[in-house]
Amino acid sequence: MHLITLKNWSETEILETVENCIKIKNHPEKYRHAATGLSLALLFQKTSTRTRCAGEIGIVQLGGHAHYLDWRTTNFGLADLKDEIRVLSAYVDVILARFLKHEDISISGETATVPVINGCCDRYHPTQALGDLMTIQEHFGRLEGVKVCFIGIHNNVCNSLISAGMKVGLEVTVIAPEKNPAAVDEELWNEAAQKGCYKAVSTDKIDDTLELQQVIAQNDVVYTDTWIDMEFFTDPDFAEERDRRIKLMMPYQLNPTLLAGIDCKIMHCLPAHRGYEISGEILDDPRSVIFEQSENRLHSMKAIILKLLA
Ligand code: CP
Ligand code: NVA
Repeated sequence: MHLITLKNWSETEILETVENCIKIKNHPEKYRHAATGLSLALLFQKTSTRTRCAGEIGIVQLGGHAHYLDWRTTNFGLADLKDEIRVLSAYVDVILARFLKHEDISISGETATVPVINGCCDRYHPTQALGDLMTIQEHFGRLEGVKVCFIGIHNNVCNSLISAGMKVGLEVTVIAPEKNPAAVDEELWNEAAQKGCYKAVSTDKIDDTLELQQVIAQNDVVYTDTWIDMEFFTDPDFAEERDRRIKLMMPYQLNPTLLAGIDCKIMHCLPAHRGYEISGEILDDPRSVIFEQSENRLHSMKAIILKLLA
């Protein structure tokens, strides 16, 4: 079993994992030897704070061993991906990989003889979504019927929220003037929409801040993420697109004016870009659960590792 996307995880598997995330958080001592003698390889093409630390520290807290591989210092770049994944599978018990392209994490899943965890690709971010369900469950005591408004660029994080959410009855409303091309997944969106778990609000129909506030206020949670995925941040070829997006997206920034008087929890997967998709005040707002959400990445990663090792 892998965690490449949550599409092939059942409702029961997701709910049990969320329950285990909370159990592990509340009683970490009970899991100290749960992965004794087992190794996790972390193979990263992109930068990471939370996912890397959750994997490395998580496996160690479970009694196992972490082995971090920066793509550039391995021979993955020189050789056939399948050959190298086959080799890595013989050394470790589980692989957590962050690839640029969804295709590469899929190939890894098909080739590996041990479980593979997608640590975020251009299309999905399933470990983030499971941690997010954990945070929502902790705050609302349920998942079914909780209304989440994702506001920003429709991206990998948004897709996994929809994918996980539709299995457990979350109602995700997306306000996104744009979609990342790699994140287009009509099949997922249609399935989720048919289940009543996803709707996209056309931004053409939102004329001003008041109308945006009216949509957000119908939700229990408002969630945002970066307008530009991390691999494009320092890419000079993306500079023009970056400036265009910032201009386009500024009216959708989560800030005290937009969220004035709205009773909802505020989420962000982090890293945050203060002053862009979210203002500094909102990260530190009493309604923000963002730093709990990021801590939960550790507990949830442990539950994911144990589920896949079982
Ligand atoms: N949210 C998240 O995946 O953060 P990192 O990119 O720091 O791992
Ligand atoms: N969507 C962003 C943040 C993920 C943590 C990205 O892919 O870079």
